[in-house]
Amino acid sequence: MLPLPLILAAALPAVDPHSLANPQVVRPTHIALDLGVDFQRKSIRGQADLSLEYPQGESKAATLDLDTRDLTIEAVTDAAGKPLPFALDPPVKLLGQRLRITLPEPRPKQVRIAYRTSPTATALQWLDPRQTTSGKQPFLFTQSQSIHARSWVPCMDSPGVRLTYEAVVRVPAGTTAVMAAEAGAHVPEKGVFRFRMPQAIPPYLFALSAGEIARKEVGPRTAVFAEPGVLEKAAWEFAEMETMVEAAERLYGPYAWGRWDVLVLPPSFPFGGMENPRLTFATPTIIAGDRSLTSVMAHELAHSWSGNLVTNATWSDFWLNEGFTSYIENRLVEEIYGRDRAQMEALLSLREIQETVANPKTAAARTAMYRDTAGEDPDDYEGAIVYQKGAAFLHMLEARFGRKAFDAFLRGYFDSHRFQGMTTPQFVEILRKDLFKGDAASWADAKVDEWVTGPGLPGNVVVPPSERFDRTRAAAQAFAKDGSHAGVRKDWVTAEWLDFLGALPRTMTGAQMEALDKAFAFSKSGNAEVLSAWLATAVRNDYEPAYPALEDFLLRQGRRKFLRPLYQALYDNPKTRERGRALYAKARPGYHPIATASIDAIFK
Ligand code: BES
Ligand code: ZN
Repeated sequence: MLPLPLILAAALPAVDPHSLANPQVVRPTHIALDLGVDFQRKSIRGQADLSLEYPQGESKAATLDLDTRDLTIEAVTDAAGKPLPFALDPPVKLLGQRLRITLPEPRPKQVRIAYRTSPTATALQWLDPRQTTSGKQPFLFTQSQSIHARSWVPCMDSPGVRLTYEAVVRVPAGTTAVMAAEAGAHVPEKGVFRFRMPQAIPPYLFALSAGEIARKEVGPRTAVFAEPGVLEKAAWEFAEMETMVEAAERLYGPYAWGRWDVLVLPPSFPFGGMENPRLTFATPTIIAGDRSLTSVMAHELAHSWSGNLVTNATWSDFWLNEGFTSYIENRLVEEIYGRDRAQMEALLSLREIQETVANPKTAAARTAMYRDTAGEDPDDYEGAIVYQKGAAFLHMLEARFGRKAFDAFLRGYFDSHRFQGMTTPQFVEILRKDLFKGDAASWADAKVDEWVTGPGLPGNVVVPPSERFDRTRAAAQAFAKDGSHAGVRKDWVTAEWLDFLGALPRTMTGAQMEALDKAFAFSKSGNAEVLSAWLATAVRNDYEPAYPALEDFLLRQGRRKFLRPLYQALYDNPKTRERGRALYAKARPGYHPIATASIDAIFK
């Protein structure tokens, strides 16, 4: 199949198919929020003051159309308190409800919306005290990406719309509130916390959390927030944050967000990390005790350039966020942990692309980095494509032009487009002009159009060498042949263990499984990546002795990346399907809605 020519691709509408708002004629440039967190009702009572700008002149905007989902709108007024007519349209599949506010003449510079969130708001997870480490207080966190900000703030929930904000957050006394923003004058005794986000950001980066949260500095501009029982371990694990920021600044220019802190969430957080500006949200499953899973932190930091500074204009351009970030993550891993580890991680990523592309269940259209995603749930993307194929594309460009030129190009790109949205056709034009300098022959030779809009993996992908993987492969083969594990080294890094496990025969005997577990204690691994890969192997082989560890793992954490393949493996093996269903029924109440949406689809 021929790739869609970019000229055609460029014809995709510039409007965001995942928003019901009308930013072409009126847009909020700033929101002042007053949020009351009610743990009993599982609801936030909010007041939002939106400052408005009329990009085409006031006459063009008769209504202000905002995105909402499951919000109860109590009142809409102008700045003087005069009520404004409004209507909440019927729900639209995936998108929520449009809130249409009729604007009087002269057009208001500000509107105030009083509202309440629903207990089922898709951005909010309300945890009972027993779902936390200390078990003392309830806990709340938001996850706004991709289109969930609208379930806790009425806004133009499109990544192409940017605004600044300020917030007053009211929580029960004794509870701490944090936001991905600058901290203002807190009055913790009264449960009042103030924040300010002076840089304009898209709503998917709005983030709030509340609960028993402690803080420890780990560097001049980095601190770790976590539940008190996790704080010390987390601070040790993430002590290299400042080193990471310095490495990133050397490559791509000054960090634009002031501080870089991290909030370690309770284990039901559905992602590895979320790049909320100034305050990365992270899963506790990256705390392995040996800093071996910190590439997730490098990834979230990288978003401070790719994503938070230059932002995908719509979710069809998602690879501009995640592909670039995965590439930068790999560069940071190289800077901090060395070339070997970076190349091994890049090789594992390439295998993921190849598996996804070869999988008959993957529709060819979904293996294109850039495609029209209208009508789809933007949380349901092909990770290997938008992340890994996107990164592989940039690795190819780097190899073609050399590091010096390519680094300068990226740095200039981030600098010239900072605090702006970016579409794929726009980026491709910049690439053609600034990196290829208009050289049409070179452009064709690099297969750029095929990379960006075509399915599959183009032939000029760069495959990094890794002698260390030659050794893990040999060790797996030796074990398969005669049970020897002389080639296995206890000091392997995560990527080596993953490669070894991946290279073992698809089916193994109980005796082989037992020998492996006895020699390397996989079922007891404190490294969640290794443990989950091992547990998937155990399910495939119906290796009973690993089931207590499997059950424990599925009950104690809710990261979608780990849940999905394990439940899928349980489902796929007829011998374990019912066990999987029962286990899921038991674990489901503790999972985040983003995770349950994916796993419900498995057991449907
Ligand atoms: N921004 C993503 C998380 C995300 C993506 C949330 C889409 C909602 C919708 C974040 O930066 C991310 O990619 N996290 C990865 C970690 C990374 C090392 C690949 C994750 O959570 O697995
Ligand atoms: Zn990411």
